Formats: sequence, structure tokens, C-alpha cells
Amino acid sequence: MEGIGGLGIAITGGAGDIGAAMGAELARQGARVTLLDRKPEAEAAPWLERAGAHGPVAYAQVDVRDRAAVDAALGAIEPLDVVIANAGIVQSAPFLEITAAQWRDHLDVNLSGAFNTGQAAARLMVARGRPGRILFTGSWVQEVPWPEIAAYSATKAGIRMLARTMARELAPHKILVNVVAPGIVDAGLARHQRETEPQYARRIAGVIPLGELQSAEQVARATAFLCSDAADYMTGATLLVDGGCSLFQFGE
Ligand SMILES: NC(=O)c1ccc[n+]([C@@H]2O[C@H](COP(=O)([O-])OP(=O)(O)OC[C@H]3O[C@@H](n4cnc5c(N)ncnc54)[C@H](O)[C@@H]3O)[C@@H](O)[C@H]2O)c1
Repeated sequence: MEGIGGLGIAITGGAGDIGAAMGAELARQGARVTLLDRKPEAEAAPWLERAGAHGPVAYAQVDVRDRAAVDAALGAIEPLDVVIANAGIVQSAPFLEITAAQWRDHLDVNLSGAFNTGQAAARLMVARGRPGRILFTGSWVQEVPWPEIAAYSATKAGIRMLARTMARELAPHKILVNVVAPGIVDAGLARHQRETEPQYARRIAGVIPLGELQSAEQVARATAFLCSDAADYMTGATLLVDGGCSLFQFGE
């Protein structure tokens, strides 16, 4: 793989805050970006505008729970060099109150959606004889039991193992598989939690050693690194970019 310029890159959850920032950064570096998201195009428009700040990006409405739709959307992208499984949801609930429906929704979107995206991408890369990279957006909570998001954290831990097993099995095909694990981002899911859950806002005060929330652009730059030549010997790895959140807090 040469530099990022000219690579065909697809991003699920692309009409969200982090996905759009990834799209903008990768397009800025010359990639041919396609954003995939379940939002209808009109609803996605503000994120598409952000993602298109440095050059045109394509869009397709796809629900990652729908395997046939994922296969069709990725199959229509040529070349397909990097696929980023980034779509995700979170709903906070104390463990004792998680409903069966909430548990299932997290598994369906975050984990089965990641599987659908990852396997569809890998099959296409193998069938076309054009190996590339498959990336997942994990989270620092894939390793740390942050309160009241058990279902979410379990899906992120599952993604980590999915990526590791894919990395091992796909290495003979020269397909590299890695995870980017952000911390607490001033965007998207965490911003929504901060704005709607007083206990979440209280909890995050003081848990970021670097002292400030992460920007979606900081996540995007780390993701661009994983797409670049500089990461060409990385596979099965998690790139933890969390401002030190996972260095455990002792309330000092
Ligand atoms: N915001 C944070 O602090 C943070 C931290 C760590 C990891 N992450 C991860 O980053 C990723 C992006 O989240 P974000 O913070 O940008 O939130 P976001 O809500 O802005 O973006 C998520 C996007 O995923 C899309 N999506 C949801 N379900 C889908 C489905 N079934 N099919 C297709 N698209 C679907 C949504 O429409 C949305 O556009 C997620 O995987 C999230 O878990 C976020």
C-alpha cells in the first residue's frame, strides 16, 4: 500500500461526529472516501458537509445490521483499500436495570454490525486479490469497567477480540486489522451522555489525566495513522488514544 492518497476508504457511522471527522481527515490526505450510515441522506447532510470540507466524499445509506445491504454497499466501492467499522450506539443504564432490548440493540449494532462490516470487507479484499486494512472503532472502555454501560463495554471488548482473531486469520492474505480506541470525546455519543446524564457529566470530571476532552479530529488523526504506511507492520493491535483515561483513577 502506498500513501493514503488515492486509497478507497469506507467508513460506517460516517454521518456521525467521529466518522465525519475521519472522513474529512482522510479526504484531506487524498483518500477517496465513502461514508455509510443508517441516516437518510437529508438527515446526514450536516455531517456530509463537515466530512467534505477538504474534498468530495460519497454517501450511501446502509444499516450495518443488514448484511445484504453492507455487502452491496461495500461491493459497489472500487477500489476498496480500507474499511472502518465505526457505527455505534450507547444507552446508559445501571447493570440491574439493563433491559433485554437494550442488551440486544448494543450487540446488534456494535458487535454484529462490526462483524458484518469486517467480514464483508475481508471477503471482498480476498475475492478481488487486493488486500487492504480493516479498522474498528473500539473504546478505552473495552478494557475498563466504566459504570452503567455494561452492554456497550461488552460489545467493545468483543470487537477487540474480533479484530485480533481476524488479524490472525487474515494475515496470510496480507490484510491488516486494527482497533482505534478513543477516550472521552467532546462529540457524538459521549457529548450526548454529557448533555443528558448529570451523573455521567459528574463522573468524567477529573478522570482525564491530560485534563481535557478529546476532539473528534484527534481520533481521526490516529485513525489516519492506522491507514498509513507508518502502520504497515501493525495488525491485531489496539491504538489506545485516550488521554490517559485508562491509567486508572484513584481520586487523589
Ligand atoms: N464519543 C465518544 O466519546 C466515543 C468514545 C469512544 C468510542 N466511540 C465510538 O466512536 C464511534 C462513533 O461514535 P460517535 O461518538 O461519533 O457517535 P455518533 O452518534 O455521532 O455517530 C455514530 C453513528 O453511527 C450511526 N449508526 C448507528 N447505528 C447504525 C446502524 N445500525 N447502521 C449504520 N449506522 C449506524 C449513527 O447514525 C451515527 O451517525 C462509535 O463506535 C463509538 O462507540 C465514541
